[in-house]
Amino acid sequence: MSYVSVESPTHFARAAPLGFTKKNRAGQLRHLLSAGEIDADDLDEFCQAAEAFELGLASPQSAAGKTVALLFFQPSTRTRMGFEAAAAAIGAHPIGMEDMSASRSNQRSGESLEDCAAVVSRICDAIVVRHHEDGAAIRMAAKSQKPVINAGDGWNEHPTQALIDIFAMRRGLGQITGKSIAFGGDPRGRTVRSLLQLLRFERPREIVFCPPPHYDVPADSLNMISEHQIRYRFIRDIEPALTECDAIMMAPYDMSDIGEPASSGYISPSTTPDSHMITAEKIELTRSQALLYHPLPRHDEIDPACDDLPNAMYFEQVRLSKYVRMAVLDRLLSAS
Ligand code: NCD
Repeated sequence: MSYVSVESPTHFARAAPLGFTKKNRAGQLRHLLSAGEIDADDLDEFCQAAEAFELGLASPQSAAGKTVALLFFQPSTRTRMGFEAAAAAIGAHPIGMEDMSASRSNQRSGESLEDCAAVVSRICDAIVVRHHEDGAAIRMAAKSQKPVINAGDGWNEHPTQALIDIFAMRRGLGQITGKSIAFGGDPRGRTVRSLLQLLRFERPREIVFCPPPHYDVPADSLNMISEHQIRYRFIRDIEPALTECDAIMMAPYDMSDIGEPASSGYISPSTTPDSHMITAEKIELTRSQALLYHPLPRHDEIDPACDDLPNAMYFEQVRLSKYVRMAVLDRLLSAS
């Protein structure tokens, strides 16, 4: 059997009007659909709240007893378990379906995403959705009576991962301002688009892309960086990033499965060429101090021998993710 992978689509109007206001009358975010709707104050507030949860200095505002629907139309490990753990930690009840392909809200039964949102938002207090289609979370938010959180929609965005990335990079680097941040691997993914949007508030010195030769950084992302006067450049081999950059955000070499439904058997080609792979030998040879981040899952782009080096931040990034998701759920549940 052969599978046709959906190429990063260009038809989706990423800046499409959402059809509803992003913030409620009190100035609070109603949904979390795109990193583009997070402003600098929101970003600081999410990071401060996450740190307060981590240190045990904050108690949830009004989440106790509320229900958070986890609707995963696409596979997930960290995001699904992270939201589940975060909901439980703030006293809310995560409920939902491990696999929405087993629900009635799918192509087989024909229920639309809009109807699914209308139904679930009358039963639950918030919706967390992951879907293989660009714009899925926006469509659900248009019909939802409760906050919708985008946990990854196709090639489009993954805003909570971007918040986690910023929180973890601020923690590792002290501050991102003035630092050189590299992006290794496939630049088309939703985590990259969302993170680049939040980096506009952090004023890094430069952004350095090391993409595979056959995939371009999406034009909307490059335009956005240019508009915010952030310098960027390209390298063809990851090794210079190890010596010239302060942090490297890695991604798999090829993320073509990101637009696939759960039922697809498509498997991204996962062999990373040596030029784009980070190994412990390279780190030792270059005496690199660059911090390594990754939204995970990794394929072979970071050798597991790196895991015990002080450069490796990716598992710490996962630990921190729970506090960020507590902050996101707490804020949206209390605004609803
Ligand atoms: C994503 C995944 O697991 O699919 N990672 C994550 O949520 N931490 C990768 C992605 O969305 O690009």
